[in-house]
Amino acid sequence: MTPTEPPTEPPTEPTTASPTEPPTEMSTEPLLSVRDLSMTFPGRRRAAAPVRAVDGITFDVSAGETLGLVGESGCGKSTTGRLIVRLLEPTAGSVTYDGRDISHLSQRELKPLRRDLQMVFQDPHSSLNPRQTVARIIADPLLVQGTPAAEARARAAELMERVGLIPEHLDRYPHEFSGGQAQRIGIARALATGPRLVVADEPVSALDVSVQAQVVNLMARLQHELGLAYLFIAHDLSVVKRVCDRVAVMYLGRIVEIGPKAQVYAAPAHPYTRALLSAVPVPDPAVERARARVSLLGDPSPDSPLRSRRQVPDRPATHPPGCALRPRCPKAQGICHTDTPTLRPLKPNTAHQAACHFPEAS
Ligand SMILES: Nc1ncnc2c1ncn2[C@@H]1O[C@H](COP(=O)(O)OP(=O)(O)OP(=O)(O)O)[C@@H](O)[C@H]1O
Ligand code: SF4
Ligand SMILES: [Mg+2]
Repeated sequence: MTPTEPPTEPPTEPTTASPTEPPTEMSTEPLLSVRDLSMTFPGRRRAAAPVRAVDGITFDVSAGETLGLVGESGCGKSTTGRLIVRLLEPTAGSVTYDGRDISHLSQRELKPLRRDLQMVFQDPHSSLNPRQTVARIIADPLLVQGTPAAEARARAAELMERVGLIPEHLDRYPHEFSGGQAQRIGIARALATGPRLVVADEPVSALDVSVQAQVVNLMARLQHELGLAYLFIAHDLSVVKRVCDRVAVMYLGRIVEIGPKAQVYAAPAHPYTRALLSAVPVPDPAVERARARVSLLGDPSPDSPLRSRRQVPDRPATHPPGCALRPRCPKAQGICHTDTPTLRPLKPNTAHQAACHFPEAS
C-alpha cells in the first residue's frame, strides 16, 4: 500500500475480543484528578526567564469520559498531557490516578501504571520509529511490560484489525503508510496494554481534513467499545465537539472555562471561549455571514493567514495580578487589572464554570 492511499477500513466492524473489556460497574470516584497542577520550565536560553507553562489547573476525568482540552498554541496543553502521563514531573500540585497520587513516583514505580496511561501524539510519522516494523512498534509497550514476544505479536495483529488496518501489513515500515494510517498505528500502540486513560495530543491536527473525521470517528468507536477515558487535546473547538463529553478551555496556562459540552458550546461564558467559538467556520455560508464574530483586541483579522499561526506569549513564572486576558479583552474593567479571576459555577448546581469577573449570561 502506498502512502497516498486512503486508510483501509474493514468492511464490517471487527469482532475480535477487546484488550480490555468496558468496566461493568461505574465508580463514583473520578479516574483522574488534577489539583492545582503547575509546571514551570527554566528558560530555554541562558538568562531567559522561567516559563510558567501550566499555572494551577484543576479538573477531573471519569472512567469512560472524554474531556476536550482546547486553546491557542503555547497555552500549555501538551505540557498538561505530559504531566498527566508523567512524562514530566509537576513543580506543584498533584495528579491522582485511580485514587493514587502519582505526581512524584519514580520511573520504577510508574512502570506498572504505564499499562493504564497512554498517549497518542500529534505527528504520527515522527512519533513512530522508522527503523521498526509496525509489529514491533505496536508490540513494544507489551514487551516492556514483560509480555512474551509471540503473544505481543498476536495482540499487535488483533489491534491492527481493530483500528481498521490490515493485519497482514504487520511487517511493513511506517513510511509505507499514509498519515491517517500511521496515526491508526499510533492509536494501536497506545491501546496495546489495554489502557484506561489515553491522552491524545492533537491526534488529528497533522492530518488532511478529509482524514481527520475518519480518525476522530475511529477514536470515538474505540472509546465506546473499550470504555476508554480520553483527554483529547486540540487547538480547535470544532475538532473536540464530535468526541468530548465536557470541554476545558485553556489560556496562558490556566483553565478559563470548563463544563459539559452542550452548555459550553451553546452558551460560552468567557470572552476567550466566545472568541474561539466564533472563529470556528460554519459550513453554511448564509449562517457564516449572519453570525457575529467575537474578536479579541489585537487579533489578526479572520481572513489573515496569521490567524491560524497565532502563538500566545510565554507566561513568565512571576506575573502581575489580574486577568491574563486583560490586554486582549474588550470587556476588561478595573477589577480585571487587580484581581485574578478563579473558576466559579455560572449558576447554582451547575458544572459549567468560568474564570471571569464578567461572564456572559446564558
Ligand atoms: N521543555 C521546555 N522548556 C522550556 N519551555 C517549554 C518547554 N516545553 C514547553 N515550554 C513552554 O511552555 C509553554 C507551553 O507549551 P506547550 O507545548 O505545553 O503548549 P501547547 O498548548 O501544547 O502548544 P501547541 O498548541 O503549539 O502544541 C510554551 O510557552 C512553551 O514554549
Ligand atoms: S476577567 Fe475581565 S479581562 Fe478577564 S476575561 Fe473577564 S472581563 Fe475580560
Ligand atoms: Mg502542544
